[in-house]
Amino acid sequence: DGTTLNDLINRDMNEVSLRVMNDKELYEFEMERIFARTWLLLGHESEIPKAGDYVMRDMAEDNVIVSRDRAGDVHVMLNVCPHRGMKVCTAEAGNAHAHRCIYHGWAFRADGSFIGAPIEKEQMHGNKRSKEELGLKKARVHLYGGLIFATWNEELSFEDYLGDAKFYLDQLFCRTDSGLEMLGPPQRFMLPCNWKIPGEQSGSDGFHTLTLHRSLMEGGIMGGTAESIYDTAPGMYGVDLSVPQGHTLRCLEAAQTFKMFADVSFEGKSTEERLNLLPPPGITKDLIPQLFKNLSEDQVNQLATIPPQVGGMFPNILVAFIFAPRADGGASGALSLHTYVPKGPDKVEFVNFIFAEKDAPEEVKRDMLQNAIWNTGTSGTIEQDDADTWPQIMRNSRGHMSKSITLKYQALHGHERPEGWVGGGDLYPGFTKDDTQWAWWMAYYNLMAES
Ligand code: FES
Repeated sequence: DGTTLNDLINRDMNEVSLRVMNDKELYEFEMERIFARTWLLLGHESEIPKAGDYVMRDMAEDNVIVSRDRAGDVHVMLNVCPHRGMKVCTAEAGNAHAHRCIYHGWAFRADGSFIGAPIEKEQMHGNKRSKEELGLKKARVHLYGGLIFATWNEELSFEDYLGDAKFYLDQLFCRTDSGLEMLGPPQRFMLPCNWKIPGEQSGSDGFHTLTLHRSLMEGGIMGGTAESIYDTAPGMYGVDLSVPQGHTLRCLEAAQTFKMFADVSFEGKSTEERLNLLPPPGITKDLIPQLFKNLSEDQVNQLATIPPQVGGMFPNILVAFIFAPRADGGASGALSLHTYVPKGPDKVEFVNFIFAEKDAPEEVKRDMLQNAIWNTGTSGTIEQDDADTWPQIMRNSRGHMSKSITLKYQALHGHERPEGWVGGGDLYPGFTKDDTQWAWWMAYYNLMAES
């Protein structure tokens, strides 16, 4: 309608029009310029351990089959029959070496290739198009720490997509010999809001923790007290970071975080001593040597002292490495990823993936699962606050006058490299701020502006 991207995102004022949250035309552009071009998280390979195992997922509004073939390779293909457009697979998960379309019977292997049709000679398939052309449309796949990512983009490498965020994300996803295991199928629920409302919040919005989730601290549900987390409490200090790809993380002092649960001091202790004193959530003492084997010394040191705890991977992934109290006074926690899958301009599917280290004892896995459900699960304490807030922002985006309101990202401190910091990216040390969320919007702007 003549509105430009610069009308919606004011880069001089660091403001975004509320209108971006409710615009059909913009949404269609997002499908083309963001969701068809970047890497998207679909699950974890531990969900499909055997040949023929599959799960059904969505890449934005495109329904896909994620399957493992006889050779052990993981494939992602459009769940759209190339004959007349029917869903080839109609079950959420299962095991099948071939998928047969229920409409006219075309069949496809677990790698998406066309097997044949029931009365092939009469149907003349293969005359005008070769059999190779009749397979399911395939996406490119990359496994990162067992996480299944896929893209329709023929060119973007996964390394270029991750950029300098890899140094930090490895500490969560690639730290043990056997890697992660997904604890059960993902939790899913629909929310009446645009995907960017949770999306931009996952750009490491620290401020909302202090108010929206304050009752969790006050009630002792997340451990600690209001004083230990609120306002200028040391626990809120750390290093926020962003990379040009739009990934962001908040790294918080482990010693301060642990203080909410146990009276410990890391003063004068080596990395190994710190890890043994209070291992990060999900890491048992037996697993500590594996950290040194799978990560660089700098990565282990950061994981022990100022680990990434919350943030996002652009465009629609929340990363949550939660520290939670244990009955004996120590720290336990949860590692979960959410994806916010667009289902129209005013609807999003919230998908919650919960993890533990595969080699961790069963009681640790149970503990991680329980913490994830309590905290960041669909019925958890944290997400219920957010799930109440986001639809109300969406509701406001419909008002004629309300659309003229702009969202403000002006608590910008600028980037600055702390002394001795090894990882890359733009770094924002000190109290939480808006820089990372603005970096999220700039990644959005750049992709949307690319023709
Ligand atoms: Fe699938 Fe016809 S639509 S076989």
